[in-house]
Amino acid sequence: MKLVILGASGGCGRHLVEQAVGRRHEVTAVARASSSLDVPTGARTLRGDLTSVAFLRDAVRGQDAVLSALGLRLPGIAPWQRPVDPDFLDRSTAALVEAMGAEGIRRLVAISAGGVGDSHDAVPAAFRAFIAVSALRSVYPALGRMERALLASALDVCICRPTGLTDEPATGRAVVARAIVGRGAIPRADVAAWMLDEVARPAFAAKTPMITVTGAAGAPPRR
Ligand SMILES: NC(=O)c1ccc[n+]([C@@H]2O[C@H](COP(=O)([O-])OP(=O)(O)OC[C@H]3O[C@@H](n4cnc5c(N)ncnc54)[C@H](OP(=O)(O)O)[C@@H]3O)[C@@H](O)[C@H]2O)c1
Repeated sequence: MKLVILGASGGCGRHLVEQAVGRRHEVTAVARASSSLDVPTGARTLRGDLTSVAFLRDAVRGQDAVLSALGLRLPGIAPWQRPVDPDFLDRSTAALVEAMGAEGIRRLVAISAGGVGDSHDAVPAAFRAFIAVSALRSVYPALGRMERALLASALDVCICRPTGLTDEPATGRAVVARAIVGRGAIPRADVAAWMLDEVARPAFAAKTPMITVTGAAGAPPRR
């Protein structure tokens, strides 16, 4: 497939690019000009303003699908910390919806987070409390707005909601979870693999699946 990967410089984005190239997709890795971007041989890179409709139209033109690993950069998780560019996701989502619509590209797999939107009650109370008192309290509403804008658009979207991201090696054990018990965690490499599996399906199985490796309610304990 011809895949464009937005946020290719981020934790999940890097895995997406590497794995997509490994799966023999035609990959365009997109990031802003200042990003540190190191892509494997075979991937095309494109740099520019991720909130510009004109730039995003150039990026998505002629592609089969878009994978977005964009998120808000946080200087830290302490309660007083705020995202560096708090409305970046609002602006980039609006521009992406317009750009994809204008270019006739419909399929998008993006990343939100477990606990956003109607998954709020599906994560442990302790984690909900952590969201409320940490810097996540400004990130979660932004992810919620991103979800709502994408779901209200005419695009064919799958917005996965991973649990806590880690940099552990891929396990190949990501599952869709209805609820999380205990510590929900998933390596970024597994998120990328899950997204690439999903984008290759003829139709998305769900619009906002929560994905995890540990903590899925009802799953057998891992040894
Ligand atoms: N951390 C967790 O435990 C966790 C759990 C669940 C879900 N999530 C969500 O998962 C997503 C991916 O996580 P991650 O760790 O892979 O994210 P990350 O490493 O922070 O990557 C974020 C990406 O967004 C880009 N970006 C941020 N602000 C930008 C701006 N103003 N202009 C252009 N690009 C911008 C970054 O580019 P630069 O490299 O140029 O900054 C980077 O490519 C995030 O939305 C996060 O909220 C995180």
